[in-house]
Amino acid sequence: MPAETDPTKLMKQQVGKAAADRVVSGSIVGLGTGSTAAYMIEFLGEKLKSGELKDIKGIPTSFQGTVLAKQYGIPLTTLDEADRIDIAIDGADEVDPQKNLIKGGGAAHTQEKIVDCLAETFIVVVDSSKLVDKLGTTFLLPVEVIPMAIAPVMRKIEALGGQPTLRMGVKKAGPVVTDNGNLIVDVKFDQGIDDPAGLDTILNNIPGVLENGLFVGVTDTVLIGEIVDGTPIVREL
Ligand code: A5P
Repeated sequence: MPAETDPTKLMKQQVGKAAADRVVSGSIVGLGTGSTAAYMIEFLGEKLKSGELKDIKGIPTSFQGTVLAKQYGIPLTTLDEADRIDIAIDGADEVDPQKNLIKGGGAAHTQEKIVDCLAETFIVVVDSSKLVDKLGTTFLLPVEVIPMAIAPVMRKIEALGGQPTLRMGVKKAGPVVTDNGNLIVDVKFDQGIDDPAGLDTILNNIPGVLENGLFVGVTDTVLIGEIVDGTPIVREL
């Protein structure tokens, strides 16, 4: 794959490659969603093609992952067939110092949480812009909601102190519809999120909420792509 020239894309590409290098032959691999995970999937495909990697199977976390895996020749399996996930590699929208995450910028966090939580090892791949001291300070928290419950769920979130906005489509009239046929509300918390574990539980207990984008205590390793003195590097949190 030729090196990207745009600095952000280059960071994502390098960190995607570093993560793909951690996959060993024979593994069942959770394939994350988003632009950084897409590089990782492409590198896995290249390694399979060259013979450097053998006998891996992917479990995608979205329709995007399914399409990319097919494009780059990665055999797929399902949670029905696989008895384990050895490693999952996925992007994130925010990462805090405890390696807790906000995910869901691509509206895929429900399937991502299922796959990433099941993995023996979960590696997060981000560029350095994703690192924050406190979750919810640079990115709104995505919440996937069953369509008939959208109004009461938004009212309940407001009562909890959040400001929910229904996510609208781009180049598509009307709201974003997830791979699971649901809607997304993006929630702003004015002071950020003080207690990610507590909020995760509270949100998921609202009837009609399928899943929120907080990933608490799930991450094993964070790989960060950075450009230092003009040179791309990858470091581990
Ligand atoms: C998908 O719903 C998200 O969780 C992505 O993993 C996240 O938005 C990171 O995407 P990028 O790698 O494109 O920034």
